[in-house]
Amino acid sequence: MTLAVTTQQKIGFAIAAVAIAGWLVYIITTTRRSAQPGSEIELAPNRRPYLDDDAMEGPRLDRYLMWSLIFLGVLAVGLPLYWLREPSRQAGAQRGFDERAVARGHDLFTPAPPPSDPGSRVPHFGCSNCHGVNGTGGSTSYSLPGTNPPKQVTWQCPPLNTVTLRYRDSEIQSIITYGRANTPMPAWGLAGGGPMNDQQISDLIAYLHSISIGPEKAVAQAAPLGTDGKTLFDGYCARCHTQGFSYGEPGTEGGGAFGPNLTAGDTLRQFPDENDQIDWVTNTAELGKPYGTRGVSHGIMPHFGEMLTPEQIKAVVDYERSL
Ligand code: HEC
Ligand code: HEC
Repeated sequence: MTLAVTTQQKIGFAIAAVAIAGWLVYIITTTRRSAQPGSEIELAPNRRPYLDDDAMEGPRLDRYLMWSLIFLGVLAVGLPLYWLREPSRQAGAQRGFDERAVARGHDLFTPAPPPSDPGSRVPHFGCSNCHGVNGTGGSTSYSLPGTNPPKQVTWQCPPLNTVTLRYRDSEIQSIITYGRANTPMPAWGLAGGGPMNDQQISDLIAYLHSISIGPEKAVAQAAPLGTDGKTLFDGYCARCHTQGFSYGEPGTEGGGAFGPNLTAGDTLRQFPDENDQIDWVTNTAELGKPYGTRGVSHGIMPHFGEMLTPEQIKAVVDYERSL
């Protein structure tokens, strides 16, 4: 690793070098002069005759006062200028910090370029191979665990350009760290047995924020689905609540997979009051917080308040309660 030296540091070093050299010259000359006999009368400041009053208070004083005025002017102009520039300098530093995090996250997200490209020397983990370029979604071939002979399926990978709208940052961090067992999503964090440290995961989250399409576009994307509960459920919920939905072999609708079984009145027991269920689907609850009758959130169910309209959430909840 090389240390980057800024222009300010170079100027600082140059001034320091000149000052040290001057100081050495001063020490050497005064030591040599004071070695001569009688030299203290000439050299000791308190023994030298000084200027008389006229010379002191005349042009000499004016000259000193003039210089003081000039330096005062420099301070009077310089300090406010510094003060005016400071907020934008700080904002710029902050923005630069964020932009570098996003750039690092982008590198981690994309596949490595050919070795001839200097960019190939920083780590790349190729999330976009499964999640699509810029996180628009994709699919991957996957060997279903527990099948003998191994059964190969094509698993749909969710878009990530809306993931920051439906998960809190801490939840995304946990998904990336531990992956999602029994799906193609591997564990990436050191704690989950993967290769990435906390800084890299936080850079990835910064990148995921940067590619987010924002709530307006996400709601517009859902608009064509209207308020038909089943269509909405298949579009937004079934991949987690219906076994096999992600690879085109759906089992019982809402019968439970990664997310719990929503049929056979289970949701009615968890949410006797429909409004609680609507609130859960809109906001979910943070890890460890209660929901419904006896639910305790694991921080793994996405919230949909920024992806679906209140009417659509009501429609999908009505549909779930009818299962
Ligand atoms: C081998 C394919 C594959 C790779 C590579 C991959 N993922 Fe995933 N990822 C998936 C699949 C499949 C899911 C959904 C699993 C499911 O059905 O619940 C997923 C889910 C996610 C989710 C949760 C989204 C949601 O709404 O459920 C996040 C966040 C995520 N991946 C981030 C990443 C990041 C960041 C990387 C790169 C470091 C990455 N993934 C690499 C396949 C992959
Ligand atoms: C990424 C996977 C995933 C998606 C997508 C998903 N859910 Fe869930 N859902 C879960 C998980 C996991 C839980 C369990 C929550 C927990 O333990 O904290 C859950 C819990 C629930 C519950 C509470 C069930 C109970 O008995 O406690 C309801 C209701 C629910 N989801 C509805 C929905 C609706 C409606 C949608 C679509 C708009 C949806 N979910 C989309 C994963 C998902």
